[in-house]
Amino acid sequence: MFGKIFGNKKPELADFDLSIFGVDMHSHLIPGIDDGSKSMDQTIAMLVKFQSLGYQKVITTPHVMSDYYRNTPQMILRGLEDVRSTAKELNLEIQIDAAAEYYFDETLLERLEKKEELLTFGDKQLLFEFSMHAEPDQINHLFFELLSQGYKPVLAHFERYVFI
Ligand SMILES: [Fe+2]
Repeated sequence: MFGKIFGNKKPELADFDLSIFGVDMHSHLIPGIDDGSKSMDQTIAMLVKFQSLGYQKVITTPHVMSDYYRNTPQMILRGLEDVRSTAKELNLEIQIDAAAEYYFDETLLERLEKKEELLTFGDKQLLFEFSMHAEPDQINHLFFELLSQGYKPVLAHFERYVFI
C-alpha cells in the first residue's frame, strides 16, 4: 500500500566521505565464523564499501563467546589470511587486520588469569562487550586483570548498555 502512495523507488543517497575516520575497528568480516559475513563474496562487498566510503583500514573483530562462537586466535588469523589474499587478488587497496570482540563471560577471566594470548589492536587495546541487560558480576575483577596485564579495554557499542 505504501509503495503505491510513495512509489517503490529507493531514495538515492549521496555517497558519504568518511575518510576522516581512517580506520574502522569493529566489524565482523571474516566469513563463516560468527554472525557477520556469511561468505567471502559478502566480505569483499563490505570491504569495497568501506573503501568507497574513504576508509584506509579495517580491523575486523570476530566474536569470541563461549556459548556461541568459540573462535581462537588461530582460527581468526587463518580467516584473516584468506580475506587478505582474496582482497589482494582483487587489487583492493584497503588494509585489513583482525583482533576480536571478547564477550565477558567466565572464560574471559579464565583466559586472563592463565595469561592466554588475546587478540588486540593498536597499543594492546582489547575490544570487549558484555550482557546488554544486566551489569555483570566481577566487572571490577575483569578491569583489574585487564589493566594489570597492560591491556587497554575498549567497550564495544557502549550505548547498548542500559545500566551504564
Ligand atoms: Fe559487537
